Amino acid sequence: MNSDEIISNSPEETQAIAKSLVESRPDLCTIALHGELGAGKTCFVQGLAAALDINEPITSPTFTIINEYDGTRKLQHMDLYRLSSPDEVLALGFEDYLSENSIIAIEWPDRAEELLPAETVHVYLKAMDQPDCRSITIRSKK
Ligand SMILES: Nc1ncnc2c1ncn2[C@@H]1O[C@H](COP(=O)(O)OP(=O)(O)OP(=O)(O)O)[C@@H](O)[C@H]1O
Ligand SMILES: [Mg+2]
Repeated sequence: MNSDEIISNSPEETQAIAKSLVESRPDLCTIALHGELGAGKTCFVQGLAAALDINEPITSPTFTIINEYDGTRKLQHMDLYRLSSPDEVLALGFEDYLSENSIIAIEWPDRAEELLPAETVHVYLKAMDQPDCRSITIRSKK
């Protein structure tokens, strides 16, 4: 799925866009979430969780690096912000996570760029002039 730029006008709309991505792509595995601090990456993951019937609150794994949730599919939520090299990402057992049948949502995926599977869906979030607006673009090879 390659989307044109989608404009989200609220956190709820960003979550709804994430939810429709899960619903339109049952084969979805790895999602790389690109965007600056506060762009809405964790907000997007909250929408993924809603699509998987996960009712726990989704909080940022900035310090834990990985949070795992059980839903209709397992969700692994990673925030690689504090890591600086692919070696550190590998040391987390990154490749083992990829081999599980879970949805893996990765914030700050540039830390792991060369480790991402080719079928990764890339989501680009960008702040806009109005405070609650975000530009969202979704790109994948398929
Ligand atoms: N349209 C929107 N989509 C997403 N978030 C929005 C939107 N409008 C306002 N926000 C607010 O922007 C903030 C986004 O925070 P969030 O934690 O999702 O960012 P992040 O990209 O994960 O940042 P970080 O890199 O620090 O983890 C939230 O406070 C959210 O309520
Ligand atoms: Mg975040």
